[in-house]
Amino acid sequence: PIRRTTVPQIAARKGGEPIVSLTSYHAHTAAIVDKYADFILVGDSLGMVMHGMESTLGVSLDLMIMHGKAVVRGTQKALIVVDMPFGTYEESPSVAFRNAARIMKETGCGAVKLEGGARMADTIRFLTERGIPVMAHIGLTPQSSNVMGGFKTQGRDEDDWPAHEADAKAVTEAGAFAIVLEGMVEPLAARITKQVAVPTIGIGASAECDGQILVLEDMLGLNEWTPKFVKVYGDLGPAIDRAVSQYAEEVKDRTFPGEDEVYR
Ligand code: KIV
Ligand code: NA
Repeated sequence: PIRRTTVPQIAARKGGEPIVSLTSYHAHTAAIVDKYADFILVGDSLGMVMHGMESTLGVSLDLMIMHGKAVVRGTQKALIVVDMPFGTYEESPSVAFRNAARIMKETGCGAVKLEGGARMADTIRFLTERGIPVMAHIGLTPQSSNVMGGFKTQGRDEDDWPAHEADAKAVTEAGAFAIVLEGMVEPLAARITKQVAVPTIGIGASAECDGQILVLEDMLGLNEWTPKFVKVYGDLGPAIDRAVSQYAEEVKDRTFPGEDEVYR
């Protein structure tokens, strides 16, 4: 059997060949991503992207576990990382451990990700010392959007840089094996990448990060609007539209099902 990419293998990629990553929430898309990605994130963005929620705050542990299981089943090679949803880890290290352990046990994933820098350092240390690898996530942290007043690019004011740098340092010292840098100005992401000993994974950050991640549905063109940092590599939205509209026409004019699709 093919062995999956391990957490130490990802950590060892610091400064090396860029780490390729995408999100996936389903067995079928994950099987495709698995051919090319070093790790796959089952992100809590699934609440907005595939369940139509207004934010990620409503995502439950059970929902993350359900999608985590699907992605683990659909893949063989990539490390699978599952997001801890809002409300399942912030309260205390022991609450975080209990919920992270459920994610690990029930999905078979290899690591969890949680949002927050210095304020989450004790929790990251508690988990990693007890066998749960943690990917940190700093900069724009969508679960804090109500405090931040929306989804705002971080570090536009250089006075804010030391706090972000301190976050990166704190999570690294606490044992995080990699850090997602989301939505921060490019020079800040590049600086943090030079300062920390673990790989940084950029999204809306910098090409100097040690790896990149995008939300699969965004880069496939499934959304009508995408933010500036997304490069749309695929054409799936219009392709699905064309297919569904042709099907609708053929049902109405009775050309579907045709000779080939009926049993004689
Ligand atoms: O939930 C998610 O998809 C994420 C990535 C954007 C990093 O956290
Ligand atoms: Na997330």
